[in-house]
Amino acid sequence: MAKRPHIHLLATGGTIAGRAMSDTATTGYRAGALSVDDLVASVPGIRDAADLTGETISSIDSKDMTENIWCTLSCRIRELERNGKTDGIIVIHGTDTMEETAYFLELTTDHRIPVVLTGAMRPATAVSADGPMNLLNAVRLAGVKKAAFMGVLVMMNDTIFGARDVTKGNTLSLDTFCAPRGPLGHMNDGQVEWYHGPLHREGEAPFSVDSLTALPKVYILYGTAGADGAMVRAALQAGAEGLVYAGTGNGSIHEADEKELAKAAVQGIPVVRSSHAGSGTVIGAEASYEKEHFIRGGSLNPQKARILLQLALTKTKDAGEIQEMFERY
Ligand code: SIN
Repeated sequence: MAKRPHIHLLATGGTIAGRAMSDTATTGYRAGALSVDDLVASVPGIRDAADLTGETISSIDSKDMTENIWCTLSCRIRELERNGKTDGIIVIHGTDTMEETAYFLELTTDHRIPVVLTGAMRPATAVSADGPMNLLNAVRLAGVKKAAFMGVLVMMNDTIFGARDVTKGNTLSLDTFCAPRGPLGHMNDGQVEWYHGPLHREGEAPFSVDSLTALPKVYILYGTAGADGAMVRAALQAGAEGLVYAGTGNGSIHEADEKELAKAAVQGIPVVRSSHAGSGTVIGAEASYEKEHFIRGGSLNPQKARILLQLALTKTKDAGEIQEMFERY
């Protein structure tokens, strides 16, 4: 019989570990209430798929995710990647910010062994809770050697997504995750079927957060009709070291906001143009944006553009160098 892989679980909380007052409630529960052991015990046959160990990093609703927890997770994953005893890692996480944590880990870990994030849309106490199957599928996926080459993965609702593209697309549906370029694969009754690989990341982690507990302060500003530049001024007053503008269409910026953002760029605060359109790529547009050295955010959504800008700022404030990182990652 083939040796079972050793999979280590890192629990951060979320609905998957949530307890509600009744078994028909799918909202109004306490996220992160169950331990790793409780979660594992709820999945029949899971110990046949792998030897499991686990630890709790946090027990939070992922809307409250912090950069300190991100840095702790990243360091712990890097330790596990190097200890030669762990075949795969699962991060148990709330779905609300799962895509952000996945992309952060994509850029700060080495991809030596599979790293898979999973969670649930229904609390553990609900009828037809989705957590047990998601966890079982995540364990199966983390035991597949090839998964390491796919970068950090999200396993939800039988579907495998890459960290860079995955996004939460529905407030309540079990089928909430999607990716503009499609999923990387599916889990079919315990068998992985890959469709394509991720495009962006190769080699060792491009950013290290080993000695950090916080990241440079970057705010996302939402572009709308009637903008008046006040949000830009407020962000700068709050100490922003970089700004992401979630603009309209192709990262377009209201002229009142553009005036204030241009002043910020002159003061050495990098400004990234992103879009709240939901899909597509932000490319060059107005000549003034290039003159003002605004950075084109490409196909990263605003919340992921913020993470890349934060990590970029740990190395440089130069808009040209940061632009290259947006093209590479
Ligand atoms: C959370 O993100 O922690 C709550 C929502 C969920 O896990 O679905």
